[in-house]
Amino acid sequence: METIAFFNLKGGVGKTTSAVNIAWHAANEGIPTLIWDLDPQGASSWLFNTTAKSETKPKKLLTGKTPIGDLVRSTEFENLDIIPADFSFRHLDHQLSEQSDQGKQNLIAKLVEPFSENYALMILDCPPSFSLLTEQIFATADSLFLPLIPTHLSLRTFEQTRDFFKEHKLKPKRLHAFFNMVDRRRSMHRVMLAHPPKMLKNGLKTAIPYAAIVERMGDYRQPLPAFDKQSTVSQAYAELWREIKQTLSDF
Ligand SMILES: Nc1ncnc2c1ncn2[C@@H]1O[C@H](COP(=O)(O)OP(=O)(O)OP(=O)(O)O)[C@@H](O)[C@H]1O
Ligand SMILES: [Mg+2]
Repeated sequence: METIAFFNLKGGVGKTTSAVNIAWHAANEGIPTLIWDLDPQGASSWLFNTTAKSETKPKKLLTGKTPIGDLVRSTEFENLDIIPADFSFRHLDHQLSEQSDQGKQNLIAKLVEPFSENYALMILDCPPSFSLLTEQIFATADSLFLPLIPTHLSLRTFEQTRDFFKEHKLKPKRLHAFFNMVDRRRSMHRVMLAHPPKMLKNGLKTAIPYAAIVERMGDYRQPLPAFDKQSTVSQAYAELWREIKQTLSDF
């Protein structure tokens, strides 16, 4: 099983939208896929029209009293399951530090591991923060995909993540940025796309345009390609999936 994460310290840059659309593309190709909504905001759970069955105490999950498999729900799409966000997971970080010997043990990796029997791809939709939870995700994911709006501030948050990787002896090569919400009418967007900064050398080539139809995922509560395959932005997500697939060793 390959484990990938959509991460950015910055909020509202397209982590959830990308995670949901990439999950759909993978599942649509017959790849058994599990998306884990690790953000207590629960945006990907909401987009897949799912909710957690009942509140699970993070402590019970981390100590194995509640098997994580019990949290899996199916979606309306074949080959695509989800672990919906649970509002009580907002305390996950605190519990992680209590349960994992001050964070030395990677409990997220331990929770992900058993899914390799049933799934070929695990997608982690991360909250926009740096925390013990995200540190354990960094160490667990085979690769991380970071949507970036082409602005200097976005680049700065990428740089912070890359520096964190370097300082903690994690391989920055596992970080793949890609531009999202690209508006070619804006000169800064055009310049950054034409001359991507050096620090993005492991970045993906696909750029996702800004398009109002993306917001309609909330009306349909479905991934974009489930109700639109023709638009330029939907085709860009298909291309993004092809590119992501090429970076994964299992496919
Ligand atoms: N390419 C796009 N074009 C237009 N709107 C987009 C695009 N990508 C994402 N959006 C919209 O931007 C908003 C934020 O997207 P999303 O929730 O995916 O970001 P996020 O990084 O997961 O946010 P958070 O940090 O809060 O989890 C949503 O309303 C979404 O519909
Ligand atoms: Mg999100």
